[in-house]
Amino acid sequence: MTDRLTVEQVCAPRTPSRSVLVEGATLRLREFLPSDVDGVLGIFGDPRTTREFGMPPFARSDAAALVEQARAGAARTPRTHYRLGVSEIATGELIGSAKLIVEDQSAEGGMVRVGYRSAEVGLALRADRVSFGHSVEIGFLLGVLGFDRLGLHRVWSGFMPSNIAAQRAIEKAGMVREGVLRHYGHVDGVWHDIVQYSILEDDWKALCGR
Ligand SMILES: CC(C)(COP(=O)(O)OP(=O)(O)OC[C@H]1O[C@@H](n2cnc3c(N)ncnc32)[C@H](O)[C@@H]1OP(=O)(O)O)[C@@H](O)C(=O)NCCC(=O)NCCS
Repeated sequence: MTDRLTVEQVCAPRTPSRSVLVEGATLRLREFLPSDVDGVLGIFGDPRTTREFGMPPFARSDAAALVEQARAGAARTPRTHYRLGVSEIATGELIGSAKLIVEDQSAEGGMVRVGYRSAEVGLALRADRVSFGHSVEIGFLLGVLGFDRLGLHRVWSGFMPSNIAAQRAIEKAGMVREGVLRHYGHVDGVWHDIVQYSILEDDWKALCGR
């Protein structure tokens, strides 16, 4: 039965290479490189971006740590953490950071028994690349990775209700609003609601016309 898949089965690479490379018409999702630290600082060093995550802008050491964590996650077996760079195919320039984290849910106990076939996704574009419509292409690339390559059943994302751009972008990418997780986040002594969206395997197939 598909809901009995183990983390090894879901997260084992289906291609000989462990490295992720997913390309669309103009953008690619790719592994982070040690040389990406300044590019990551360009994304998360900007308060316009980090305020949406309820955190202060990155220092260079934070950017270096993100690249290091991304590369460590890529080397782990089974792989559950996909922190990837978004770069322009034409120029090779890093313009964003995406994540897909396969959930480490126990198959035993609790009412949630989706095993390892659920993942959280997130995206941050450099502030000067926001509102160009890139999120639809990146959403598609994350769908290719999550559903087609990793065999996931459910992909979800959450953000603060004040983040109207994310809400608009995620709906354009075909995700469905599930509801509000009340006081799910706690930032600087303040509780924040999180609005949650998801896309299921069947939604993805319908979106792709399969
Ligand atoms: C959220 C984010 C990924 C969206 O990506 P994007 O490529 O900029 O999104 P798109 O250009 O495809 O669409 C954004 C939509 O929001 C709209 N929008 C942007 N800012 C808005 C605002 N303040 N109020 C209302 N609508 C807004 C845009 O007009 C666009 O809608 P349209 O296509 O109907 O014109 C990007 O804005 C981003 O990286 N933000 C910072 C980090 C973040 O918030 N990440 C989300 C948490 S996971």
